[in-house]
Amino acid sequence: MTDLAEHSVQARPLPDIVTDLPGPRARERIAIDERYVTPSLPRAYPLVPVHGDGVAVEDIDGNRFLDFAAGIAVNSTGHSHPDVVAAIAEQAATLIHCASSDYYLPVYAEVARELDRIAPISGPTRTFLCNSGAEAVEAAMKLARYATGRQNLIAFLGAFHGRTYGATTLTGSKAKYHAHYSPLLPGVYHVPYGSTGLDELEQRVFRRLMPAEEFAAVFVEPIQGEGGYVVPEPDFLPRLRRLCDRHGILLVDDEIQSGMGRTGRWWAIQHWGVEPDVILAAKGIASGLPLGAMVARSELMTWPAGAHGSTFGGNPVACAAALATIRLIERELMANAAERGQQLLEGLRPLVRRHARIVRDVRGIGLMLGVEFDSAASAGAVQKACFQRGLLVLTAGEDVVRISPALSLTRDEAATGLRLFEEAVAAVDAQGTKG
Ligand SMILES: Cc1ncc(COP(=O)(O)O)c(C=O)c1O
Repeated sequence: MTDLAEHSVQARPLPDIVTDLPGPRARERIAIDERYVTPSLPRAYPLVPVHGDGVAVEDIDGNRFLDFAAGIAVNSTGHSHPDVVAAIAEQAATLIHCASSDYYLPVYAEVARELDRIAPISGPTRTFLCNSGAEAVEAAMKLARYATGRQNLIAFLGAFHGRTYGATTLTGSKAKYHAHYSPLLPGVYHVPYGSTGLDELEQRVFRRLMPAEEFAAVFVEPIQGEGGYVVPEPDFLPRLRRLCDRHGILLVDDEIQSGMGRTGRWWAIQHWGVEPDVILAAKGIASGLPLGAMVARSELMTWPAGAHGSTFGGNPVACAAALATIRLIERELMANAAERGQQLLEGLRPLVRRHARIVRDVRGIGLMLGVEFDSAASAGAVQKACFQRGLLVLTAGEDVVRISPALSLTRDEAATGLRLFEEAVAAVDAQGTKG
């Protein structure tokens, strides 16, 4: 894996914190942001990034951070991988936009062909490209209704599917995502994530609330992301597949966070040997350029011309970035994600014993790892203590810190991150921070 090492070699150490955090220039930029930018953005900590390279992020004051967040699992190939940059530059110099809804862009069809090749669906598929995860979710909601002629949808508590109205309705992770937006989309039923939720579907929802034959689709994350990096019990996804088959309900697999090689396979659902009817990708698909994809079994694509589309969706530059990203993931990064994931998991597991007062659980697959704490306060304090030490992580769910670095992470970078993370946990444990 010489390429991986080369991309990370820098004259300066990583991390390298040279000012107070936030530094003076960061404070200036934050003041401007706080005057002009919507206050709805949650903002984890006062980082003002201006440069990225591999798993290094440099802020406006010249501080270098080791990035274990990858822009919420987006920078799959690392920041500004040279192959991705070259693909973007070449495409941008050739054709930036030409209305994929109206014309036959070759690069759009190439991405669709690649997704057909790697999709965990045995028969032929077709793809709709868009600009974000939420748009892929919306496309699947519309296709499910169109193809089945049914209206109702199932989603899980703890799920996160995005911020548009339909995707917000499916989301069941935090009440604040729904607050003040009612009425949401009708016909969406939530049940607990896991086998108890499937019991509830069969015994309560289908019997007492709405017959199974009235449901178009179930939306599921094979590993919940924003809900707290939750890995379901082994029989959950196989049983969900059987339930869908029994009732003619489509299984929509939201792999927007868990897909594109992050778990060491192209798609997390492959760890359970389950085939979805529709699969959704975004985030890591184009290494940071905005691209979402809905891949569906071809026979479901019954909708005619004009039934769905997008002005920017499948933009040539984003598509070129996606093709370069797929090549890199396939060539080396997916295998690396599995190895580095194992290294990190083994390094994190002892925290449950060593810091038993605050660490409750360590879990995950590949480079989708979560550390659960005793409280939201402890998780937040660890996130902050990591930042102060030059390690970028983000919380998820109520009390989880997620670790989702680029798939290009090297062994040494993983070891450095582990050391800093444990230092941060130890500091919070010593302070006796409680919720
Ligand atoms: C599983 C999942 N689905 C959908 C989305 C929405 O994606 P986007 O923010 O690109 O709209 C996210 C984003 O975090 C996600 O993790």
